Parts: sequence; structure tokens; C-alpha cells
Amino acid sequence: MDFVHTLLNLLASMATIGALFFLTPLYTFLKAFCYIYTSISKEDVAGKVVLIVGASSGIGEHVAYEYATRGACLVLAARREKSLGEVAETARSLGAPEAITIPADVSNIDDCKRLIKETINHFGQLNHLVNCAGVTPMSMLEEITDITSITPVMDINFWGYVYMTYLSIPHLRRSKGKIVVIASSASWIPAPRMSLYNASKAAVVSFYESLRMELGSEVGITIVTPGLTESEITQGKIMNKDGQMVVDQDLRDAEMSIMPIEMAAATARGIVEGACRGDVYLAVPWWVQTTVYWVAFFPELVEWVNRWFLYVEPGASPLDAPSKKLLDVPGLRHVSQPSSVWSSELKE
Ligand SMILES: NC(=O)c1ccc[n+]([C@@H]2O[C@H](COP(=O)([O-])OP(=O)(O)OC[C@H]3O[C@@H](n4cnc5c(N)ncnc54)[C@H](OP(=O)(O)O)[C@@H]3O)[C@@H](O)[C@H]2O)c1
Repeated sequence: MDFVHTLLNLLASMATIGALFFLTPLYTFLKAFCYIYTSISKEDVAGKVVLIVGASSGIGEHVAYEYATRGACLVLAARREKSLGEVAETARSLGAPEAITIPADVSNIDDCKRLIKETINHFGQLNHLVNCAGVTPMSMLEEITDITSITPVMDINFWGYVYMTYLSIPHLRRSKGKIVVIASSASWIPAPRMSLYNASKAAVVSFYESLRMELGSEVGITIVTPGLTESEITQGKIMNKDGQMVVDQDLRDAEMSIMPIEMAAATARGIVEGACRGDVYLAVPWWVQTTVYWVAFFPELVEWVNRWFLYVEPGASPLDAPSKKLLDVPGLRHVSQPSSVWSSELKE
């Protein structure tokens, strides 16, 4: 038995090394060819119906503007009604023939049912579903006061995506539509204080990768993994150790440090371009994709660096983390963060 296992280990290693050498050039050539082809024949979304969940701020808001400039009809959903109204108005001024707003909590299945029903009643069809609603818990696990107060994270970040997808599929099958999934590069990059957020995003990626097997080419799925992007999250809006949504810019600084924060408009442009091309995976900005290789080939090194850089003992101040001290070096904040994330004021 030992001999069989050794043989299998050897064969698996040889097959993998062989594939890396011989398949990589062919695979890269085919990917490049497909990219050029899909870039030329990309979908025109003018007049099509796009439902964006999480459209009241940040990435979702700018995705709405990007679809609007392409002439799509919009359904904008989130909980904050006033902010949704303002986004709809801007979207119409940018070229959306229609932009309606539906206040909804995506962690509530009845709200999700109402969202789909009102979309279909109003427009009669659905072409793109953009799942973008999310919250970010940021705390060491041991510091959480009541672990059950953090369960809304999965209800919003994971179940919210699943509910909307489940309810949309019949309509997306009819329209040969697409699902645009805003996941995160955090799904593969480990970091202290981010265990629950990262797990919620890894669950999302895994869910859609398997769902793709079930839907085949009937419904396209673009899994987007943005890096840090200008939004209320990068302004410091987090779920704290007590399960409360607060703005904590010191904690934000300790966690995000000098990692560059992309402008939301640029991220949104990349997302809608990728969705229209029918990309299966999409990292924005592109360099974020390179971190996959670091994690795959040097996992212990990545863990060691991230722990040394970001970790402080439970109960200690995150202001003592080397990551925060580095950001405080004069000039570095200006290079890595757009000034828009310095304000702690959020939308209503
Ligand atoms: N910014 C980044 O660096 C970054 C990086 C990678 C991935 N992401 C992901 O991108 C997505 C968008 O986040 P963002 O960065 O743009 O942050 P954001 O500005 O805080 O936007 C989050 C959006 O989600 C909505 N939302 C939250 N809870 C909801 C609920 N229960 N029901 C319905 N809508 C809800 C919010 O609207 P209401 O509060 O009005 O409900 C808001 O529109 C999230 O999934 C996030 O995890 C962000």
C-alpha cells in the first residue's frame, strides 16, 4: 500500500510539473486569443436591465454609473433609500433610460423576493444581476464579545448573494444573462482580524465556481476579486468586535496600511468591461491577480510577513502594528490613499 501511495505521489508531481511546462504556453495562447475575440464581440448592454444590489455607495454606486453610461436600465437596491435616490438621479443624467430604486435588506429572503418581483413587474426581464452588498467585520476572533452578533456577516456577504442568485436564475436563463459577483482578493490572502470577512468571500467564490458547473453556458458568471477600492469600507466602515457598524479609521489604517487604494470609478469600469466581455475571473486592478502565485508558491512566507506586519496581541492597540507605523511615515498616506477615504462622514 505504501508503495502504491509513493507511486501515486510521484506520478501526480510529475504530471503537474509536466503540465506547467507543456500546457502553460498553449493555455496562455488560447486565453489571449479568447480575450481578443471577446473584447471585439463584447455585449452591448444598451436597453438591457441590470439589477445592482449594494448600489447606495462605493463600488456598487460606481458600477451603476458605468452601466448608465452604456445606456442600461437600472434597478438599484440597498437599505439606504435617500442615497439610492441620489445614485438613481446621477445614473439617469449619465444616460440610463430608466433607473428605479428598491430599498431592501439582502439578508432577508422576503426582501429579495420583492426585489425580483418588482424588477420583473416593471421591466419584464433581467439581463445582469450584480451582487455587491457587503459588510466587513474587522476584529481578532478572541476579542469578539458575543460571537453570535457576527452572524449577519454570512447572512449578508454569503446568503444575500445566494438568495439573489437563486431567485434570479429563471429570469437570467430566459435572457441568457449574467451574474456579476463582487468577491474579494481577501478570499485567498490571509490576514489577522479578517478571518470572518475572508471566509465569507472564500465561500462566495467557492459557491459560484460550483454553480458554474450547473449552469454551463446558459448564464454567465463573472467572479470579480477587487483589491482595495475607494468606498465606505476603505473610509473605515467596519463591523467591530461587538457586532456594531462603526467608522474606525485607526483600525482601517492598521489593516490596510500602505496597500494602494484604487479609485471606485476605475474599478467599476474594469468590472463592467469584464462582465460585458464575459470574463470568468476578473481581478481589478490586474496586479492583484499576481498575489495568487505568492500564496500558492510561498504560503508560509505570506503568512509570516502578514502576521509580522499586521498582528498585535489581542487587547493591544492596533496603532502599535508595524503596518500602522509605516503608514504614518510622512508622505506615504498621500501616495497610497485617495483623499476621499480620509473623511469619516458616510452617506445617509
Ligand atoms: N472596497 C474595497 O476595498 C473592497 C475590496 C474587495 C471587495 N469589496 C467588496 O465590494 C462590495 C462593495 O463594498 P464597497 O467597498 O463598495 O463598500 P460600501 O461602500 O460599504 O458598500 C457596501 C454596499 O452594500 C450595501 N449593503 C450592506 N449591507 C446590506 C444589506 N443587508 N442589504 C442590502 N445592501 C447592503 C450597502 O448599502 P446600505 O448600507 O444602504 O444597505 C452599500 O451599498 C462588498 O461586497 C465588499 O466586500 C470591497
